[in-house]
Amino acid sequence: MILPNIVDRLRYRRHCLAIVFLLAGCAAPASRSTAPAAQVTAPAATTAASATLGVAPATSPSPSALPIPEATPAASSSPAPSIAPASAEAATAFSGQLALDTVRLLSETIGSRPAGSDAERRAAEVLADEFRRLGWTTEIQQFPIRSFQDRGSSLRVNNESGAPIEVLALQNSAPGTISGRLIEVGLGRSEDLAGLDLNGAIALIQRGEISFGDKVRNVAAAGAVGAVIVNQTDDSFRGLLPDSSPIPAVGIDGATGRRLFESARQAELQAELIVDTSIAATTSNNVVATLDGASDETVVLGAHYDSVAEGPGANDNASGSATVLELARTLPAAELPVDVRVVLFGAEEIGLVGSRYYVDSLGPREREQIAAMLNFDMVGVGDRAMVGGSDDLVQLAQEAASEQGVELGELGSSLDGRGDHAPFLDAGVPILFFHRQDDPRYHTADDRAEYVAVEGLEVAGRLAFALLDAVAELRMEN
Ligand code: BES
Ligand code: ZN
Repeated sequence: MILPNIVDRLRYRRHCLAIVFLLAGCAAPASRSTAPAAQVTAPAATTAASATLGVAPATSPSPSALPIPEATPAASSSPAPSIAPASAEAATAFSGQLALDTVRLLSETIGSRPAGSDAERRAAEVLADEFRRLGWTTEIQQFPIRSFQDRGSSLRVNNESGAPIEVLALQNSAPGTISGRLIEVGLGRSEDLAGLDLNGAIALIQRGEISFGDKVRNVAAAGAVGAVIVNQTDDSFRGLLPDSSPIPAVGIDGATGRRLFESARQAELQAELIVDTSIAATTSNNVVATLDGASDETVVLGAHYDSVAEGPGANDNASGSATVLELARTLPAAELPVDVRVVLFGAEEIGLVGSRYYVDSLGPREREQIAAMLNFDMVGVGDRAMVGGSDDLVQLAQEAASEQGVELGELGSSLDGRGDHAPFLDAGVPILFFHRQDDPRYHTADDRAEYVAVEGLEVAGRLAFALLDAVAELRMEN
């Protein structure tokens, strides 16, 4: 009977956690701006405390930018492995406020961190320095990426005023300037294309059902020389192709798309599509840090620290990276039942490139030792804390959440492929995805630190803390 045991232990642990949080609230280190006990219910990041952050000037982000106190190294020879604090003095509890400092460092001091950019590289260095300072064995794992640049794309159609229609090239789209008939092809599945003459044409494709890659491949194989994918909603979007496309491919908003579908039904349309993109070989980095625990089992705490080019990526995903860094600050003071490895992934936004590279770099034994991968992605905005992933871990998270009085929604499998947990899942590693819904500023220039709530970071951090122990026990009993 695994679960009753775990419930009991979690109940016991709740006392430990309560003590840890009480201690931190009563005797917060001097370098903290406010007591964490008061921050659990603090409103989103508009406090005076967050305005007094010790962040470095934009030109020289440095590790000392983070007001994180030194931690005591772990005592790993405990007879009863548990994440109970090694001593009351060492019990430095997870602080959402310190995590928010890191969100601001990444999203404001460093700024937008697209894969392969100087800012992404700088973020990796700053984060790696922090892990080293906190006593973690840290390395930077470099890997090759193709960095994509869009210098602007446009579409002109002869039925319209002649003004260029705003389009966004799909990431990894081939460049080109082409003219041809604009032909509606439904969803762009093979069965939708039967009987259509697409030779030399630009295909107008409805988004949905099959991947962008399949749509573009299908119409190109049928002779099309360009692809325009129409969104289901009225906003524009930046789609992602897994590989470079054989033909220029762009996305347009649903409202414009519907107008074009309408006109294409009435008369043959001629269109000109200009796509000015390029792809260059460069590199990105994962930050990998390990802290030894009482067994050879490993729990991976993961988050991506890169962002899209369109915005500063405060919630997506400085929030997850900051939560993991703050856990890394608190964990050396605990007796860890397992090895904990933090991996902050680069190049997530261009197709999970960092996490795939990391998983591929593991030997079979190393992979086998990973008891669980906990991924933190967008944990700072939205009313509902959510988890998704492997059934056992979701159940443990629910147990921990109810012990902590947190209401936790479930994502099902809908987001299985949308984050750095996916390559772990593919490799057979149990995963748990921490997330919050909904973020209206997802992938926009407004994804800023002022909207990130301390409470979201705290909830994720506290659940993760409780889960480390529960995961170790689950693995021992199975
Ligand atoms: N953080 C997002 C994933 C996400 C977004 C999860 C919204 C839940 C709700 C992630 O950074 C992302 O944008 N992923 C891409 C896919 C990835 C393979 C590039 C996505 O979801 O479109
Ligand atoms: Zn994203």
